[in-house]
Amino acid sequence: MGKADDPRERGSFVRPATTSPTIRRARAGEARGDVGGVTTSAKHRRVAAPTRAARSSSLDNMKSMIELAAQRLAIRPWQANDAPALSVAITESIDHLRPWMSWIATEPRSLAERQSMIARWEKERRAGGDMVFGMFIGAVVVGGCGLHRRLGPDGLEIGYWVHAAHVRRGYAARVAAMLTSVAFSFQEIGLVEIHCDRANHASQGVPRRLGFALVGQQTKPVQAPNETGLQDVWRVTRSDWMRDA
Ligand SMILES: CC(C)(COP(=O)(O)OP(=O)(O)OC[C@H]1O[C@@H](n2cnc3c(N)ncnc32)[C@H](O)[C@@H]1OP(=O)(O)O)[C@@H](O)C(=O)NCCC(=O)NCCS
Repeated sequence: MGKADDPRERGSFVRPATTSPTIRRARAGEARGDVGGVTTSAKHRRVAAPTRAARSSSLDNMKSMIELAAQRLAIRPWQANDAPALSVAITESIDHLRPWMSWIATEPRSLAERQSMIARWEKERRAGGDMVFGMFIGAVVVGGCGLHRRLGPDGLEIGYWVHAAHVRRGYAARVAAMLTSVAFSFQEIGLVEIHCDRANHASQGVPRRLGFALVGQQTKPVQAPNETGLQDVWRVTRSDWMRDA
C-alpha cells in the first residue's frame, strides 16, 4: 500500500450539502454469488462434447474457481511474510493504480522496503494510529485498504484499492462496509468518510452503493495523474449506520 497511509494535506471545504443516506451495505454483493467469478448461467448452454485433455483442463479450472468461491473475502493487517505477494499485486496493478494512487510514484519497492513498511504499519496500528489492512481471498491478495485518522478524534477515513484482475466484483464495497463497522466498534468514532476525486467514478461507486451521504467537496493538491484537485466527501454517521444494521 506504500504511502497510502500518509496523512494527506486537507484543503478548504467548498460546497456543503446533505443527502439523506439509505444504507444498503455491500452485503448485497455477497448475495450476488460473484466471488471468484463463478456464475451459474453457463450451465444451460449446449456445447459439443470436449476432448479428454480439454475436459481435464476445464475440471482443473473449475476446481480452482470453486476453491476460490468457497473462501471468503477477508481483511487483516499485513504481515511481514505478505511482502512478496503484496509486491506482485502492486506490480500487476500498476497501470490501473497509477492514475489515482500517489504512492505508486514510489514503486517498485524492494522486498526489504516493503517489509519495513509493513512493520511501520503494525507499529502505527498498535499505537492507536492508522490501520492498514490487506484484502484477501484465501491466500490471494485482492487489494489493500485502511482506516485513516485524518478527520480528528471522532472520525475515520476509509481508503482502498483493488487488484486490477479483481475489480467490479463488489470487493471494494464489501470491504468498505466491513471497515465502517470496524470503525464504529471504537466508541469515540461518530462518523466515517470516504474521499474520492471528482473524476474517480469507480471510487465514487463505493460510498454511493453503501448509502453514504455526499456532504460536500474539498480542494486538495493534485498528487496523482488523473486527479482534478477537487474531492467529493461522502459520510455516514454512527446513528445512520447502526439504524440500518
Ligand atoms: C475504486 C476501486 C477500489 C473499486 O473497486 P471494485 O472492487 O471494482 O468496486 P466494486 O466492485 O465494489 O464496485 C462498487 C460500486 O462502484 C461501481 N464501480 C466500480 N467500478 C466502476 C467503474 N470503473 N465505473 C463506474 N462504476 C464503477 C460498481 O458498479 C459498484 O456500484 P453498483 O453496485 O451500484 O453497481 C478500484 O477500481 C480501484 O482499485 N481503483 C484504483 C484505485 C483507486 O481509485 N482507489 C480509490 C482512491 S479514492
